[in-house]
Amino acid sequence: MTITTAQTTILRPVVEVITSERTLEGGGFPVRRPFPTTRLPQVDPFLLLDHLGPVTWGPGEGIGAPDHPHRGFETVTYLLSGGFQHKDSAGHAGKLAPGDVQWMTAGSGVVHSELPSDEFMRNGGVMHGFQVWVNLPARDKMIAPHYQEIPTAGIPEARSIDGSVKVRVIAGEALGKRAVIETRTPIYYLHFTLEPGGTIHQPVPAGFNALVYLISGTVQTGKERTPVHEGQMARLGDGDVVALAAEAAAPADLLLLAGQPLNEPVARYGPFVMNTREEIEQAFRDYQSGRMGSIHA
Ligand code: CO
Repeated sequence: MTITTAQTTILRPVVEVITSERTLEGGGFPVRRPFPTTRLPQVDPFLLLDHLGPVTWGPGEGIGAPDHPHRGFETVTYLLSGGFQHKDSAGHAGKLAPGDVQWMTAGSGVVHSELPSDEFMRNGGVMHGFQVWVNLPARDKMIAPHYQEIPTAGIPEARSIDGSVKVRVIAGEALGKRAVIETRTPIYYLHFTLEPGGTIHQPVPAGFNALVYLISGTVQTGKERTPVHEGQMARLGDGDVVALAAEAAAPADLLLLAGQPLNEPVARYGPFVMNTREEIEQAFRDYQSGRMGSIHA
């Protein structure tokens, strides 16, 4: 995006700071979840943000999410520590190591399992990562399932000129680097690491919904330099630049998510996200009658 000199840069303000709810997901692993909640069902087009761990498991203790379906949206898994393996009804199977990203477009439906890797189950360790659900526009909800699996070495990275800020560009663009992952609608998924005192102004197109989630440390954002702490999410108002500043004495690690809102009706129940109640009922019928397939050993 280009900011012309005739245009004044508008810093995105903080609308609210949300402290994540703590809950158990899948087979019972701990997540911090800023949304969805009854008060904030989505940040269109994002339907869910789960911060998994960091949690230390001993050998044999790791917990994942056994066979379950999805339809009508995308699940994006980003691992920081540990190891996952996945399998699905379309015959895909793979592994996720630290830094890897799996962007799964469930579309018309898959049944998949997301479990700690065999190696992790043998040795135990620290599991830490994210799952984000990205809604699909009505026109794309029934497309064929599709996978983009990017190993950590394939995720573009950049550093600010003064070296104080690193970004991993999972979707969108930052510091002159463009993501290799393709999205169905315009999305930014950026992982920023700020050294103590590090600052960055990240352009995000006006009209996109945007949020900042703190993995660790504290960052100040918005005109008022509102502090956002570990496990908190700042929902940002409109503008064209997100200002981020770490504290003088401590680093900060965060996700910046932004996307063009779909502005379509959302009907969701568990693992299905459609536009109408009838489509949700159809999804249940299709799943129960085996039309989303099953995982073959
Ligand atoms: Co899943």
